[in-house]
Amino acid sequence: SNHMTFKAPPVYEPIPFVGGLIKFVQGPMRLMSDGYRSKGEVFTVPLAHKKMTFLLGPHVSAHFFKANDDEMSQQEVYEFNVPTFGKGVVFDVDHKVRAEQFQFFAAALKTAKLHTYVPYFVSEATEFFGKWDQQGVVELQTELSHLIILTASRTLMGREVRENMFRQVTDLYHDLDMGMLPISVMFPYLPIEAHRKRDRAREELSKIFAKVIQARKASGAQENDLLQHFIESRYRTVYNGRMTNEEEITGFLIATLFAGQHTSSITSSWTGYFMMTHKEKWMKPAIEEQKRLMREHGEELSVEVLNKMEVLHAIITEALRLFPPLIMLLRKAKTSFSVTTSKGQQYVVPKGHIIFASPAFSHRLAGVFERPDEFEPDRFQAPREEDKRRPFSFIGFGAGRHGCMGSNFAYLQIKTIWSVMLRNFDFEMVDPFPQAQYNSLVVGPGPCRVKYMRRKLKV
Ligand code: HEM
Repeated sequence: SNHMTFKAPPVYEPIPFVGGLIKFVQGPMRLMSDGYRSKGEVFTVPLAHKKMTFLLGPHVSAHFFKANDDEMSQQEVYEFNVPTFGKGVVFDVDHKVRAEQFQFFAAALKTAKLHTYVPYFVSEATEFFGKWDQQGVVELQTELSHLIILTASRTLMGREVRENMFRQVTDLYHDLDMGMLPISVMFPYLPIEAHRKRDRAREELSKIFAKVIQARKASGAQENDLLQHFIESRYRTVYNGRMTNEEEITGFLIATLFAGQHTSSITSSWTGYFMMTHKEKWMKPAIEEQKRLMREHGEELSVEVLNKMEVLHAIITEALRLFPPLIMLLRKAKTSFSVTTSKGQQYVVPKGHIIFASPAFSHRLAGVFERPDEFEPDRFQAPREEDKRRPFSFIGFGAGRHGCMGSNFAYLQIKTIWSVMLRNFDFEMVDPFPQAQYNSLVVGPGPCRVKYMRRKLKV
């Protein structure tokens, strides 16, 4: 009786019989751009027995970001993290428990807490760059990952690990990290050496943290770190209101480490490469901003001072727009839902589909950002503010219900690092501007060396 027809999204099937698989292994960016060109903002790619529906761009993204977990679920699509994060936490528990555990993360990362972490960012960065020579050539991302894992171990895992067990814990973290391969997303329990090493490392970390937690509880020491916060967290509506246990706390620390490690080191690296290739236009103003803040505040780097670094902030955001490390975000549709494209076409996406949003692809759509392939940090500043024209335009940190809880932490950390670098060194690219490695799970730049020369900034 209803003459309105509710159509399913168009199917984009690049290769008969094999479905999306070939294009997918060739690189998700290629699949998305081919699908977008032939079908538009919404299309479905059949992959084996699954249906993958892509929602590309802000017009069709609202449901993805705003829906609750009964409508758009993370559990099925992010379950591959369970062997890494561990049992009983995050994607291994039902959504009620997960919601409470996410509350622990949110509380540990809220603005008021960040004041207590920033001094560690500063001391780690100062010490790290203090060890650099008068001049030299470094592979930038290798250096920055190293620094960020030092800071992470200090602010997340705590003094005991940072001071006494750093080598041991980072080696185990390395094995965990190497055990998360693109193949692990589909087959997390595939019996391969990388997975065996991952499982051994996970067990070892449980033992180490059990000891650290017991010792800290016994000593009654109070530290300013996420470990302390997780130790003191208590469930409210589930598990009869008990406290978190050692196994869970270990899982929270690992999950936080995975959320913040590569994402931050990748973003800090792109930030540097863009400044070095836009010296007059952006590196100079960023240095001028440091000088001004040094005149006003001396050497001090506090939350207050870091929050005043607007030029650096815009540069970081623009690096993240062009090269978001998480190129695709996933959900499973538990209910069907409708989307309306920018051209007014309406589709109903059936329940059961795996839904994809893509920061990397959407950020470069013409019509969302002006000259989308150009590095123009002022697009985020007044009067342009292109990200404010439409919700879900900038999604480098995700958005809505499951938007990144660590974005302020990340900005403060990256700004501290670049502030210390800009105040103490000049930089130059040695290699050509690196390519993004779109076939990795977390996408960063390929190897790229830079030259540094120590100098003192004259204010
Ligand atoms: C979620 C990006 C740093 C903790 C997310 C999401 C993105 C993201 C895109 C949403 C995932 C989704 O919707 O499926 C980034 C980037 C970072 C960064 C680009 C650095 C530049 C951090 C740091 C931490 C952190 C440093 C913690 C210290 C989290 C947590 C969530 C999250 C806990 C889950 C939120 C939820 O599901 O409700 N992040 N992140 N992130 N991030 Fe970050």
